[in-house]
Amino acid sequence: MNKPKVVVTRKWPVAVENQLKARFDVQLNETDQPMSVEALKHAMQTADALLPTVTDAISADVMNVAARQVQFIGNFGVGYNNIDINAAQQQGLVVTNTPHVLTDCTADIAMLLLLMSARRAAEAERLLLSGNWTGWGPTQLMGQKVTGKTLGLIGFGRIAQAMAKKAHHGFGMKILFYVPSEPDSAIVEDLQAVRCQSLDELLSEAHFVSVHCPGGAATRHLINEQRLQLMRPSAHLINTARGDVVDSNALIKALKAGWIAGAGLDVYEGEPQINPEFLSLNNITLLPHIGSASEETRIAMGERVVSNLVAYFDGHEPADRVV
Ligand code: DGY
Repeated sequence: MNKPKVVVTRKWPVAVENQLKARFDVQLNETDQPMSVEALKHAMQTADALLPTVTDAISADVMNVAARQVQFIGNFGVGYNNIDINAAQQQGLVVTNTPHVLTDCTADIAMLLLLMSARRAAEAERLLLSGNWTGWGPTQLMGQKVTGKTLGLIGFGRIAQAMAKKAHHGFGMKILFYVPSEPDSAIVEDLQAVRCQSLDELLSEAHFVSVHCPGGAATRHLINEQRLQLMRPSAHLINTARGDVVDSNALIKALKAGWIAGAGLDVYEGEPQINPEFLSLNNITLLPHIGSASEETRIAMGERVVSNLVAYFDGHEPADRVV
C-alpha cells in the first residue's frame, strides 16, 4: 500500500522530521520559508494530510480548492485560530492541535515577561548595551517588587493554571482569575485563587494581569482603551496568548500616558508585523513569539502531531481532535 502523502509547511526539529519520513511520503520545508497561498492550495490538492503551524492561514479559500485530497490537518501548535474551523467542519476535514506539551514552557515565558517588566530588565539591559551606564545609583531603574503581589489571569486554562502555580508557590502571589465557566475546585483550592465576577473587577485589583484566553473574533480587543484605564498605574500587562486580544494602539496610549507601568508581550496583532511605536517605548518588554520555543517542547509538539496523524491513518480517533 502507498504511504499517505504529507506536506509539512515549515522546518520542524530534525528528530520529528525523521519520524515522519519513516512512516509517510513527506514533503518537508528545508528553507523554512512560509508557503504561499497558491502552494498551500496545491498541497490541498496533492497531499493526504497538511501539517501547518500558527503562521499559516488555512482559510476557507485554501480549503475549498477543486478536487481537494487533504483529509487531515495536524496543526503544530495548541492555538488554532490560524485555521477556519467552521469551514474545516463544513468540509468534513479532521483537525488536530498540540495541547499539554507546551503548557509549562509558555507559562515560564509569561513569568519571565512578568519579572522582566516588573523589574525593568529590558530597559536596564538596553542601558548597559548602550555603553551609557555610569554605575549603581540609589534611585536607578526602580521597578516593582513581585513577591506577594496579586496576579490576575484572564482565562484559567492549562497555561494560566501553570503560571498561577509558579507565581503562587514560587513567589507567594495572590491569584485572581476571570473565566466564564466553573474551573476544577481542587486547583482553585490549591492556589487559594479567587474567581472575579467580572473582567473589570480583575483589572482594577491585580498588580499584574496576564492574558490566557484564545484569540479570534470573540476576544478581539478584549483589552481596549477603556479597560486599560481600569488598571492600576503601577500594573503590568503580560500577553503570551494571541496578539489580537489586546488593542495595540490602546496599549501604546496607556504606556505613554502612564495608565499602567509596563507591558510584556510575546504575541502581536498582525504578527510578524509589529506596531513600530512599540519599538520606541522604554516601558515594554518584547519577545518574538517564543512561548513554546524550547528544544524539548518543540520536539514534543511535533511528536504530538505525528501521533495524531498515525492514529488518523490507522483508522483511530486522534487524541487531540479539534473538529
Ligand atoms: C501555540 O502553540 O499556539 C503557540 O502560539 C506557538 O507555540
